[in-house]
Amino acid sequence: MTDLSLKEMQESGRLKIEWARNYMPVLNQIRADFEKEKPLAGHKIAMALHVEAKTAVLVETLAAGGAIVAITGCNPLSTQDDVAAALNTSENITCFAKYDCTNEEYYDAIDKVLDIDPDITIDDGADLIFKIHKERRDLIPKIIGGCEETTTGIHRLVGMEKDGALEMAVLAVNDAKTKFLFDNRYGTGQSAWDGIMRTTNLLVAGKTVVVGGYGWCGRGVAMRADGLGAEVVVTEIDPVRALEARMDGYRVMPMEQAAEIGDLFVTTTGNRDILTENHFKKMKSGAILANAGHFNVEIDLEVLKKMATSEKTVRKNIKEYVVGGKKINVLADGRLVNLAAGDGHPAEVMDMSFANQALGVKYIAENKLSNGVHKVPEEIDSYVAMLKLKSMGIVIDTLTEKQRNYMDDWEEGT
Ligand code: NAI
Repeated sequence: MTDLSLKEMQESGRLKIEWARNYMPVLNQIRADFEKEKPLAGHKIAMALHVEAKTAVLVETLAAGGAIVAITGCNPLSTQDDVAAALNTSENITCFAKYDCTNEEYYDAIDKVLDIDPDITIDDGADLIFKIHKERRDLIPKIIGGCEETTTGIHRLVGMEKDGALEMAVLAVNDAKTKFLFDNRYGTGQSAWDGIMRTTNLLVAGKTVVVGGYGWCGRGVAMRADGLGAEVVVTEIDPVRALEARMDGYRVMPMEQAAEIGDLFVTTTGNRDILTENHFKKMKSGAILANAGHFNVEIDLEVLKKMATSEKTVRKNIKEYVVGGKKINVLADGRLVNLAAGDGHPAEVMDMSFANQALGVKYIAENKLSNGVHKVPEEIDSYVAMLKLKSMGIVIDTLTEKQRNYMDDWEEGT
């Protein structure tokens, strides 16, 4: 990609954006409405999201609504430089993201995004909000609200709220039904496997796949592994979810045990140290480890590096560590495998996630919200689902008057 001229990069990024846009009918409808109504005129939006084509469609939707937008990445390995270059040709949009940037460059770009003096933020993992609360407190009085895209970000923000440390309103976009039921489940379910398969070029059928965590992402990853012909093993710490996994047809056991039999491990817990020293010792030679949770702390790479007698890149995005004579392969340095070793979720699911973002930002602009974590209003969720169904040519039934009364009235029924 770096061998291309700037113009070629812009063209390549533009093609990617247009391709994604063709499959995002809900966001396109919102964009058409935004173009007419300009609900975001006068607002400045700072964003830290994975900078790839679907995100670019969201960014351009917000700009079409009248906003000035500055964006950077939320992960050093998920930026697509051609998409970033294309975004920088759009009016009222500045993109500071760069693929494989250093830690310093990463946080420097976050500062640059905040230099626009935003009144609205959009995060995937709460990086902007943390920076604002820790180092850029001068920005707080002007901020009317922010949106958070992912489970881990919301956990962190709810933690801040509990400690009385959250000094702005945040919409929990992840928790909208039209987000987590589709993005986390079907999005991660498909794109994690896309990332793993294109990176390894190996067969999933016949392998034992260990999925760490049976939340929304985990059940998507397990479901698709099953469909690809793998034997699926789930590890959990929540008894209800463990039971669900078992009744969905998977084997459930502690990671200590699963470590011995897994060929391929995918962590999706949003927690740390899911695969660590004891597990590495027990793994078979050739085991492949990938993470689809938000941060790169699910696979304990520091320990793995210490244990390894050698470490080398054996294929793009695959590092082989030799531990006790056995080979352990880690994909994309333990970062979100679907984004760092793939193109992220399919456009059709991001259509719904980002429709919630766009309508969430409009909601923040039109309503005065108190400090704290807020739910996305039910009407937004239903509207997004309704538009999506319409785009798919699906019509559903509506309640009759008699049915509504029957459902509402406790005296009816025999
Ligand atoms: P969730 O809360 O629905 O599921 C997490 C599951 O992991 C829970 O069932 C929990 O009991 C389990 N868990 C926690 N600690 C564990 C441990 N030590 N061992 C085994 N299981 C454990 O969360 P969700 O929505 O599935 O998200 C998971 C992670 O994936 C988060 O970090 C989220 O931000 C991220 N995410 C990643 C996406 C991607 O594109 N790869 C998309 C959406 C979310």
